[in-house]
Amino acid sequence: MAKNVIIMGATSGLGEALARRFAALGCDIAIAGRRTERLEALARELRESNEGIRVFWDMIDVRSPEAPLRLSHLSDQIGGVDLYIHASGIGHENTSLEPTIELETAETNALGFVRCVDTAVTLLRSQGRDGQIAAISSVASTRGLGASPAYSATKALQAHYLEALRQMSLAKGWDITVTDIRPGFVDTPLLEGKSYPMTMPLAYAADRIVKAILAKRRVAWIDWKYLLLCIAWRCLPGMLWERLPVGFVPFRTEPKQEKKAAEPKSAAGGPEVKKPEEAAGTAANEPGKDK
Ligand SMILES: NC(=O)c1ccc[n+]([C@@H]2O[C@H](COP(=O)([O-])OP(=O)(O)OC[C@H]3O[C@@H](n4cnc5c(N)ncnc54)[C@H](OP(=O)(O)O)[C@@H]3O)[C@@H](O)[C@H]2O)c1
Repeated sequence: MAKNVIIMGATSGLGEALARRFAALGCDIAIAGRRTERLEALARELRESNEGIRVFWDMIDVRSPEAPLRLSHLSDQIGGVDLYIHASGIGHENTSLEPTIELETAETNALGFVRCVDTAVTLLRSQGRDGQIAAISSVASTRGLGASPAYSATKALQAHYLEALRQMSLAKGWDITVTDIRPGFVDTPLLEGKSYPMTMPLAYAADRIVKAILAKRRVAWIDWKYLLLCIAWRCLPGMLWERLPVGFVPFRTEPKQEKKAAEPKSAAGGPEVKKPEEAAGTAANEPGKDK
């Protein structure tokens, strides 16, 4: 099993839950993200609750050109990487096609993703030992979603990039496993407490993701219900798909305290609307232990 695990995007949601799980398995952990106070608090918690493991953290913004250097430094600190998990990402509905939202999503989920995953491949190759890259894309990677164009498009980029890396790795004889994790809705700060059909509890999704990573799966659908949904909607011809108002029909419920009259609705597997000034990530969300 992987000994040294680096998790990008560990300050909340799935990344944070995965950090707890791999620490409990006895792995040394290095965590990164932008919110330093959360990284510090999680690092402290992991050390206190898992005797004998080493924990490192660094503030890394995947959009920064410095990210590869900082990631390499984190890898040096922990003593080389066995498993790199890319859980960093943002997502917003954008039915008004606000350019700031589209561009920030592309910078984080496309450029930031490629920048960091590419660095992880280079690190693994330079170590001369086998290793694994696991990235959380989404079921949203499987079709263009009218309510979240940049989100679904960048998730498709991630899924294709990971598939390409698997092919490259085999062609070149690298001992690198590449795992594409594709969840449907998971109850994380990304959804801002709103309730969607088929939303999975964080602990449920995180447990399945750990299992898929340990089994070195190529592609892991979280969970089987979303796999069926994606098979069904992949079967639809483009002309029919384009006529479906996915994300524009009221199928989710608002939390009582945040109920608003005319808020746009989310696309399946997609995230919630945030204002452009909130688009820097999930800074307003409170951390919380998953069950
Ligand atoms: N929740 C869902 O329903 C769902 C469904 C399918 C796929 N996913 C995917 O799962 C991944 C994790 O999302 P989540 O649900 O766990 O949401 P989350 O709780 O909002 O976590 C997102 C993580 O990404 C990090 N991040 C965002 N921008 C970053 C940047 N510029 N540099 C470095 N880190 C950055 C955040 O850290 P900082 O803000 O501290 O930087 C945070 O740790 C995302 O890629 C998301 O698209 C989620």
